[in-house]
Amino acid sequence: MALRKIRKIGDEVLTKQCREVSKMTPRIHTLVQDMFETMYEAEGVGLAAPQVGILKRIFVVDVDRENSYVFINPEIVERSGEQTGEEGCLSVPGKYGIVTRANHVKVRALDLNMEPFELEADELLARAIQHEYDHLDGHLYVEKVEGELQEVE
Ligand code: NI
Repeated sequence: MALRKIRKIGDEVLTKQCREVSKMTPRIHTLVQDMFETMYEAEGVGLAAPQVGILKRIFVVDVDRENSYVFINPEIVERSGEQTGEEGCLSVPGKYGIVTRANHVKVRALDLNMEPFELEADELLARAIQHEYDHLDGHLYVEKVEGELQEVE
């Protein structure tokens, strides 16, 4: 495993549409492991493949350091409720902003074995999933911030 370089806002790769994964390969397996390692090292709760320069529909999430998830070719099939709160991104270091998102999501994706699974998530996990999902379509949370982006003290 290895740490990957996290791309920062302004890097074009963060604005691109990502492509579906058609099959698991040793390269993609290593990518996912590296994404977890890179996310934990940076103390993030989620990381999407384009943030390490790979335009594939993959993201990893771990909001409590107890439950880690990899989502391959994810689809958010239900969104309900609303939550408004602080959000940040490893690609936008030193900043945070207020973003309103669905409070609950149902997501379908493939796991590391390319087996389909479905997950229902609320609150922080739901926020992280929506945030990472947006990365796969080239969107950053800063587009959704209410008011000004804030500096982390
Ligand atoms: Ni992000």
